[in-house]
Amino acid sequence: MAVFPVSRVPVVNVASVPQRSPLRYPGGKTWLIPHIREWLGQTTPEILIEPFAGGAIVSLTAVMEDLVSAAIMIELDRDVAAFWRAALDEGATLQDWLRQFDPTHERLRDLERTPPATVAEHGWRTLVLNRTRRGGVLAPGASFSRNGENGRGVLSRWYPDTLARRLAAIEPYAEAERLVFAEGDGMKLLPPLLYGWEQNAAVFLDPPYTAAGGKRAGSRLYAHATIDHARLFALMAERDANFLMTYDAAPEIIDLVRAYGFHAAELSMKNGHHNMLSELVITPEPLFA
Ligand SMILES: C[S@@+](CC[C@H](N)C(=O)[O-])C[C@H]1O[C@@H](n2cnc3c(N)ncnc32)[C@H](O)[C@@H]1O
Repeated sequence: MAVFPVSRVPVVNVASVPQRSPLRYPGGKTWLIPHIREWLGQTTPEILIEPFAGGAIVSLTAVMEDLVSAAIMIELDRDVAAFWRAALDEGATLQDWLRQFDPTHERLRDLERTPPATVAEHGWRTLVLNRTRRGGVLAPGASFSRNGENGRGVLSRWYPDTLARRLAAIEPYAEAERLVFAEGDGMKLLPPLLYGWEQNAAVFLDPPYTAAGGKRAGSRLYAHATIDHARLFALMAERDANFLMTYDAAPEIIDLVRAYGFHAAELSMKNGHHNMLSELVITPEPLFA
């Protein structure tokens, strides 16, 4: 049974949400976009801060749908960070390489083994490995897709034209500095950013989370999988921030929501393995219940 009220916003009809991120992300948040539209539509902030960006689907959507003027994406993982730096600064190069690359096993192994010499090469390597490894997992030692994912092995998520189109769509927003990226620790960068923007900022938080004995093996999915969740809640409360966060409905998180007097709405959905999984959408005011 749900601990919090069930969200009145329906779990997404995936077709109503354009896929804008070139990265496929374990725990990606396409399902959440209708909540994001409503949240940013009601509170109309100038700027969105996404401190745990990953595939950054929320920042991309918020800017491209004109829900905010600009978004700041932050990511600690070096490989993911290199991808965003390359996508924002050298999108045209990545698009060229997408059109030329033939993802044979040999070329993929080569790419995996060769240390990248430039940001563009590093970002390219991240993109290719993300699209060809099983489950999009970038963490060291992840294997390439074999027969699963519609029997096409490494090619099952390799759509060069689609990926080039997504990169091209990002370019004008990067040029206009409406999409900005910073590599670093979101926990450290968030306080000064909030201080600067105060009530003009909205913060979207999708931190890496592994519930004890968790359903989602966060530590295998992301190279960086530990943050101090209690500190994050405390920070949001102290700054009276306009935020929306998502978490698994784990007992530790339920306690934190209650301790800080935040509001949560619950959504049940199937994860990649067809298990039901409850997700919480947490906000300072009751928005979705
Ligand atoms: C749950 S994922 C975000 C997924 C994203 N919402 C999406 O839809 O693609 C969490 C991300 O936070 C990153 N991360 C972990 N610790 C971090 C930190 N201290 N600062 C910034 N990013 C961090 C991880 O590398 C991972 O990419």
